[in-house]
Amino acid sequence: MTHFLDIHKTDPDALRDVLTQAQAMKDARMGQPKGRLDADAALAGHMVALIFEKPSTRTRVSFDVGVRQLGGETLVLTGSEMQLGHGETIGDTAKVLSRYVDLIMIRTFEEEALLELADYATVPVINGLTNRTHPCQIMADVMTFEEHRGPIKGKRVVWAGDGNNVCASFLHAAGQFGFDMVVTGPEALDPEPEFIDFARQRGVSVELIRDPALAVKDADLVVADTWVSMHDSQSTKERRHNQLGRYQVNAELMSHAKPDALFMHCLPAHRGEEATNKVMDGPNSVIFDEAENRLHAQKAIMRHCLRV
Ligand code: CP
Ligand code: NVA
Repeated sequence: MTHFLDIHKTDPDALRDVLTQAQAMKDARMGQPKGRLDADAALAGHMVALIFEKPSTRTRVSFDVGVRQLGGETLVLTGSEMQLGHGETIGDTAKVLSRYVDLIMIRTFEEEALLELADYATVPVINGLTNRTHPCQIMADVMTFEEHRGPIKGKRVVWAGDGNNVCASFLHAAGQFGFDMVVTGPEALDPEPEFIDFARQRGVSVELIRDPALAVKDADLVVADTWVSMHDSQSTKERRHNQLGRYQVNAELMSHAKPDALFMHCLPAHRGEEATNKVMDGPNSVIFDEAENRLHAQKAIMRHCLRV
């Protein structure tokens, strides 16, 4: 069974193959209508369940459109509408869905729910975000960096703000693709040591630098994300704003990075909080390319999982 549960759980060669195929599929569709079937219709006859226990725009639409471009069918389900949200176990849900569909993508809260689903399913499972990681996003981000700047290997990526689920997947990717990471934020919001250790054990550098201007020095890429994630209690909002205010990515902060440093944000953004409009809409921002590349990267991830 080839699941796509996290970037550190997939072999680096397979990750590279996924990105190569994603780019080839993107190039092949250049200028075509979004609804047109891909020439090889690799998912023809396949049924894909997309389960959302949290809100989503990009993940929902990009998976749905991606499956259709590959000639497959989708079922978009919300956890609360399913028996899953009313007491049925994840194990039973996994076994039942496996009788109906060929692939399951799930966005959920606890990582344990994703892992349990994958344990019991007899079809591949893809992680569409948990409280801990967001691997599909970072596959699209690596693809986006390389489209604009060439190989990411050896580059310096600076994460500014909360050491959250997206940051964790960046650290996994640093280890797998061979780039260095700097995380700048308050100590209380550092990423979990497990994610930092993974990257370091793979031989790349991970630095935690409290001064944001110092941190972004020589950056090839600066990345921001929301200060309060979907799984965080809204009551943390005021505290987070106080803790993270100085880590806002604005033009002044970007002036300390390399002049051609890219800016990324997985979106949705709180404009004017974690990043300013000037940066988000500036010439070095690739936020909408990231969003587009979710589509292409995930199509390749699904093909990798289904071996088609
Ligand atoms: N970046 C991302 O996953 O966006 P959505 O929450 O809209 O899916
Ligand atoms: N860190 C954010 C990412 C959203 C795509 C969250 O989990 O809410």
